[in-house]
Amino acid sequence: MLITVILALSFLDPSRQEAGAPRLAAALKVPCPRGQACDPRLRRDAGGRGGVYEHLGGAPRRRKLYCATKYHLQIHPNGKINGSLEKTSVFSILEITAVDVGIVAIKGLFSSRYLAMNKRGRLYASDSYNAECEFVERIHELGYNTYASRLYRTIPSGAGAKHKASAERLWYVSINGKGRPRRGFKTRRTQKSSLFLPRVLDNKDHELVRLFHTNVRYRESILNSSNRRRKRRH
Ligand SMILES: *[C@@H]1O[C@H](CO)[C@@H](O)[C@H](O)[C@H]1NC(C)=O
Ligand SMILES: *[C@@H]1O[C@H](CO)[C@@H](O)[C@H](O)[C@H]1NC(C)=O
Repeated sequence: MLITVILALSFLDPSRQEAGAPRLAAALKVPCPRGQACDPRLRRDAGGRGGVYEHLGGAPRRRKLYCATKYHLQIHPNGKINGSLEKTSVFSILEITAVDVGIVAIKGLFSSRYLAMNKRGRLYASDSYNAECEFVERIHELGYNTYASRLYRTIPSGAGAKHKASAERLWYVSINGKGRPRRGFKTRRTQKSSLFLPRVLDNKDHELVRLFHTNVRYRESILNSSNRRRKRRH
């Protein structure tokens, strides 16, 4: 009965299916078939070559992450993370890949950088894949997701710690009402700034992706202009 409900739910929303399948398999303790995403041998292999995402997650989900503060999360080539109020912005087009059960990597399609959180809770765009690029993806009410660092969190210390496992606090990806990221340790699961709606690409986004892949000049002009901005500031 429960299984039927879970299955029905996971088919309602196509964007949930990729993430839902391994979770479901884990929940039901289905043994992992050889060569599948859940196969730990494969994970080790792929990790050594830095190709974790493609191998583990299959095809990435192309999405924009729309924060409840009305900003689209952007991953910039200069290493910066922030939000855009624009509906169409190249650096908000993302590839989300399951790298483990319930764990995702989020890559900017145009910047080729990964969303990452460092040990001080700052978000940055990493040009290589590492453990700071792994986030726990959770589904919440109204279709919003949260993304918490897999690596860093607030571990309670002192007297209260023993009997309150719940005092441990996750550090969430978060874009505040000014379009700027909040430090992980200041975030809460319930804040608007930590809630993201994964949106599928619209026609305009698809057109930008097509141009980016087929038109070298277009690609260079986007990446060059963002480099120039960075140089001017320093
Ligand atoms: C986001 O960062 C980019 C790149 O550094 C910058 O050009 C843009 O103005 C920033 N936007 C906001 C809303 O802060
Ligand atoms: C972008 O920069 C590269 C190297 O700096 C240069 O060769 C190329 O012509 C530039 N492209 C555009 C469209 O500005």
